[in-house]
Amino acid sequence: MTVLVTGATGFTGGHLAQHLRNCGDLVRALVRPSSRARFDASPLPGKGIVAFEGDLGDPASLQRAVDGVDVVYHIAATYREAGQPDAAYRTINVDGTKHLLEASMAAGVRRVVHCSTGGVHGHIAHPPANEDAPFNPGDVYQDTKLEAEQLARRFGDQCGLDVVVARPIGIYGPGDRRFLTMFRGLARGRFPMIGNGQAFYHLTFIDDLVEGFRLCGTVPGAKGRTYLLAGPRYTTLEQLVGMVAKELQVAPPRVHLPVWPFWTAGLLCELICVPLRIEPPIYRRRVDFYTKSRAFDNSRARQQLGFTPKVDLEEGIKRTADWYRNEGLL
Ligand SMILES: NC(=O)c1ccc[n+]([C@@H]2O[C@H](COP(=O)([O-])OP(=O)(O)OC[C@H]3O[C@@H](n4cnc5c(N)ncnc54)[C@H](OP(=O)(O)O)[C@@H]3O)[C@@H](O)[C@H]2O)c1
Repeated sequence: MTVLVTGATGFTGGHLAQHLRNCGDLVRALVRPSSRARFDASPLPGKGIVAFEGDLGDPASLQRAVDGVDVVYHIAATYREAGQPDAAYRTINVDGTKHLLEASMAAGVRRVVHCSTGGVHGHIAHPPANEDAPFNPGDVYQDTKLEAEQLARRFGDQCGLDVVVARPIGIYGPGDRRFLTMFRGLARGRFPMIGNGQAFYHLTFIDDLVEGFRLCGTVPGAKGRTYLLAGPRYTTLEQLVGMVAKELQVAPPRVHLPVWPFWTAGLLCELICVPLRIEPPIYRRRVDFYTKSRAFDNSRARQQLGFTPKVDLEEGIKRTADWYRNEGLL
């Protein structure tokens, strides 16, 4: 099959492009012109992965990229930068998705796998949540991911496009730098445990996740369905921190700090930094990491897709820590 992966210069999209190539697909990677040099220097280019320059904000570039494609894996999104205005999230996550869906319709793409997030469910009050749990997005990133997912679903229902929505949960593994903050903080004895540590946290190892995406793109019965792609188990944040500390051979933090000073500092930093387009040192979404429960039931993906996440937490944490060590990041 010929497939297009958006976000291939990012963590998840890069792993997915390699996985699909290893499974025999001809892979096109949507690469922003500003990221072309980084792509060319990465392990991605070469037999089976070809760069198509484009941007979600440039519909003509998307038409070129999807022409002749069987399956589109739409992984690109913005969320890592907290210093951007709300409009930037809407432009990339919602408008960009619309442009890609329109181009896919026009080109007769067989299936679009749309990457959403388990974050559309927000704080999980009654864990574990399945795909039918209520939507409860808690910030502009989650709001725009929900809007994009619903837009994709409408394209499926009203325009006849075959759309499968995947909602990944807490992606980690070699190449990720989001959890580096926690690993590095623990390694250096500077990780603050904010709150009581009893919120649930659910991680999904990157290798398991990309196979889940592939199943979303290929299992015929997945048409029109939505799947939570979540790892084998969830823990409390305190347990997770304890496991990472054990791998790093350091003591976990003993002191629990109150939430409200950090939340207030996050709010103030956002109010000052965002209009100046500066990355805030602390922001509310980072504080939510400590307080919002995320615990999911992956049975639908297991039963209907044959999704079988294999990498348990100890193993995944070890492989992630090894990568951080090898890269000299800890
Ligand atoms: N990481 C998690 O724990 C997590 C959990 C749930 C869901 N997700 C979802 O998983 C997906 C991938 O996450 P990630 O952590 O791998 O993200 P990432 O590493 O930040 O990568 C984002 C990718 O999107 C691309 N992109 C951004 N704006 C674009 C635009 N205007 N046009 C074309 N490409 C654009 C980036 O390109 P450049 O390299 O040019 O910037 C990059 O390749 C996202 O949809 C995210 O919402 C992530």
